[in-house]
Amino acid sequence: ELRGVVALDGPSGTGKSSAARRLAATLGARYLDTGAMYRAVTLAVLRAGVDPTDAERVAEVARTARLEQGDDPERSTTAVDGVDVGAEIRGPEVTLAVSPVSAVPEVRELLVARQREIIAAALERAGGIVVEGRDIGTVVVPDAGLKVYLTADAQARAQRRTRQDHASGRASTVDATLADVRRRDTYDSTRAVSPLRPAEDAVELDTTALDLAGVLAALVDLVERRG
Ligand code: C5P
Repeated sequence: ELRGVVALDGPSGTGKSSAARRLAATLGARYLDTGAMYRAVTLAVLRAGVDPTDAERVAEVARTARLEQGDDPERSTTAVDGVDVGAEIRGPEVTLAVSPVSAVPEVRELLVARQREIIAAALERAGGIVVEGRDIGTVVVPDAGLKVYLTADAQARAQRRTRQDHASGRASTVDATLADVRRRDTYDSTRAVSPLRPAEDAVELDTTALDLAGVLAALVDLVERRG
């Protein structure tokens, strides 16, 4: 068992990212946002003018693009070819194209290997690492010391995402976001490789009625109980 690793999985809009980042800061741990890595590959695909559903060409972009992912919880940075893309990877173009890109087996192989390297490096220092994604407990670190699977009803998740969009200056409506949340849920949980699902030994945490402080408190409690 890897005691220094907290694996946080679940669909979008469950409060996962904010809570993961805050949990890492609270524990003095590193923080790895694996969704940002799939989003960065997707941005590189779009910039190269490649069709996101063309698996062969998508895999080629993933092999050749220079991707960097930081693991500082206070300032999680993502760069493509040396340029920070933190804002751009959250935009609607990337969000629309990220599911087919992340369903390409070779993309997953490359990124999972990279994620394991970042995790191994973090474990050499004190403090451990909080890793957030869709397949962390099932594929990336199946021996993580604590696995949490966050859920929330679709309406609550759409409302959270819409608030985040507005806070970042992106126009969106709850209805459009709800449609996007449902589309990605279906795509991510029915894909052939590493579909989104809870690990058998994951603790499920329903965040529908919780705010960020509530989610964080529940996670800290789970970490403490694991000792
Ligand atoms: O977490 P975030 O919404 O940024 O993830 C974006 C997309 O990246 C997800 O909808 C999913 O398709 C993909 N993803 C994945 N595996 C992960 C993390 C994200 O397939 N571990």
